[in-house]
Amino acid sequence: MLMAEPINVTVTGAAGQIGYALLFRIASGQLLGADKKVKLRLLEIPAATRAAEGTALELEDGAFPALAGVDVFDNPKQAFEGTNVALLVGARPRTKGMERGDLLEANGGIFKPQGEAINAGAASDIKVLVVGNPANTNALIAQQHAPDVPADRFTAMTRLDHNRALAQLAGKLGVSVEALKKVTIWGNHSATQYPDVSHATVNGSSVRDAINDQAWLADEFIPRVAKRGAEIIEVRGASSAASAASAAIDHVYTWVNGTAEGDWTSAAVVSDGSYGVPEGLISSFPVTAKDGRFEIVQGLEIDEFSRTRIDASVAELVEEREAVRKLGLI
Ligand code: NAD
Ligand code: LMR
Repeated sequence: MLMAEPINVTVTGAAGQIGYALLFRIASGQLLGADKKVKLRLLEIPAATRAAEGTALELEDGAFPALAGVDVFDNPKQAFEGTNVALLVGARPRTKGMERGDLLEANGGIFKPQGEAINAGAASDIKVLVVGNPANTNALIAQQHAPDVPADRFTAMTRLDHNRALAQLAGKLGVSVEALKKVTIWGNHSATQYPDVSHATVNGSSVRDAINDQAWLADEFIPRVAKRGAEIIEVRGASSAASAASAAIDHVYTWVNGTAEGDWTSAAVVSDGSYGVPEGLISSFPVTAKDGRFEIVQGLEIDEFSRTRIDASVAELVEEREAVRKLGLI
């Protein structure tokens, strides 16, 4: 039986390629659980609302039992009114040869009004996931413009990087991804991110020992995962879409429904100063989820190899924060 009261889910960039892959998965009940009804609120720029309306017609044609309705908006204030879950996807994707830093100015301006609109009208249990790049800093901008919303409700997506890491390790070890636990992505959703296996296990044993090849980890695995976004752009001719949508589903589902006992996932959350990451930065950490809250896993030993890489990615986040400060975006 589906619950009577629908949960409002706002998706920005609804007419984009991630939006197209994401909306049908939400409508089929995969975002929150098939027992929960969802009302979709799609936000687009005026030039793309017609395309979003077309997608809304297709969503209707899906006859999804979990879908309680779809509305299309070009005004953030209306789109975020009463929303419980906000997926901020709408942004300009990186194209060939473009670095993520180039996107700061282009995309930063989008997230200020959206943060303000969330502050003004979202439901008191609002949860925000920023997918649009540069995701960590866009999340910071939105969060800074929503002073009445608890800061920990703003997150950015590194679950795609986490899933990429799982897939690469599973391939190397010849196991199913389910055999792997405690893999971590630290830092920024960018090429500086640090995919870390120091605490990871495969069927309960150390991944490092099972691989027994530090050169593969340092010279193949880490850059492969960290640069996978660019690889997809190069090979596909467009940035990742269905895999990004899938990771967004995983992120919110885990946030709402919790992590499995003895495992964790990766998400970019507001730093409380843990592991030397400056307070307030939205940086990826190993996190558990329980009762609708993410918590940073505490007390992990960080060796020198890891320390250097975490620090490098966090330094990039500090630089991005400085850049958006200079642009007057926070
Ligand atoms: P896309 O260009 O296909 O779609 C973006 C959509 O956003 C467009 O329809 C556009 O009209 C809309 N949009 C732009 N400004 C908007 C605004 N102010 N309000 C509402 N909608 C707006 O792009 P895409 O491939 O769907 O990617 C979206 C974003 O996700 C990009 O920034 C991309 O780099 C990022 N991304 C992040 C990850 C991650 O792991 N965090 C992975 C893949 C892609
Ligand atoms: C990805 O990781 O696939 C995206 O963030 C694309 C990009 O711009 O790197």
